[in-house]
Amino acid sequence: MSGAKRPKEYEKLIVKGKRCDGRKIDELRPLTIKVGVIKRANGSAYVELGKTKVYAAVYGPKELHPRRLVEDDKAVLSVKYSMLAFSVNDRARPGPNRRSTEISKVVKHALEPVIFLEEFPQLNIELIVDIIQADAGTRTAAVIAGSVALANAGIPMKGLVSACAAGKVDGEILLDLNAPEDNFGDSDLPIAMTSTDKKITLMQLDGVMTKAEIQKAIILIRKGNDYIISKQIEALKGVYQ
Ligand code: CDP
Repeated sequence: MSGAKRPKEYEKLIVKGKRCDGRKIDELRPLTIKVGVIKRANGSAYVELGKTKVYAAVYGPKELHPRRLVEDDKAVLSVKYSMLAFSVNDRARPGPNRRSTEISKVVKHALEPVIFLEEFPQLNIELIVDIIQADAGTRTAAVIAGSVALANAGIPMKGLVSACAAGKVDGEILLDLNAPEDNFGDSDLPIAMTSTDKKITLMQLDGVMTKAEIQKAIILIRKGNDYIISKQIEALKGVYQ
């Protein structure tokens, strides 16, 4: 995040209201959502948010192992987020690390509130998210894809969950940071929201923002999430029509 030395091409990240990828301040990156892309999973989705590309696959409800993790009155949602070796500039080391453990946990907490977990006591719903290409916003893309993959698997849900971030870059609050903005900006605020009651199920802040800046960011994020939810619904409808 902040403090990183900027290469010449990113010395100015906003010029005359335009960002380094040509977007306006309140504009999301182009979003593509595909459903049912992995034949051997019970449900799946592919999400492209700008250059960030993510696959999500759902297995279950099924038996949970190890048995000590079983919850008697509800299913367990287990989430495994991984970055593929070629998803980042420096080859990502395979296997779990602190960051992937953290993101798996926050994606799980972002999605759990909309799932009727109590309908499947003692069972496991497994969500696997693989990052094919990372260009900032992989956790928000993971929530978008995960939510659609769960719906595609027929898991009973109250609604969907969408997610996007806003951040502070060169004194401006921008929607949906790309990698240079994330790397050389001051802060990043990813937020996930339910489609039904717009409740926040994930909120993290990397860097520093004032209360007024956070309020401004949330207004942008709410608009972004409304659009993302419409795209999630459109993608799901496309499969069943
Ligand atoms: O991806 P997200 O914004 O949710 O999480 P982050 O930890 O703030 O990472 C921001 C970005 O840094 C990622 O999306 C990648 O583009 C980049 N990154 C990387 O290049 N190598 C890593 N090992 C981790 C992150």
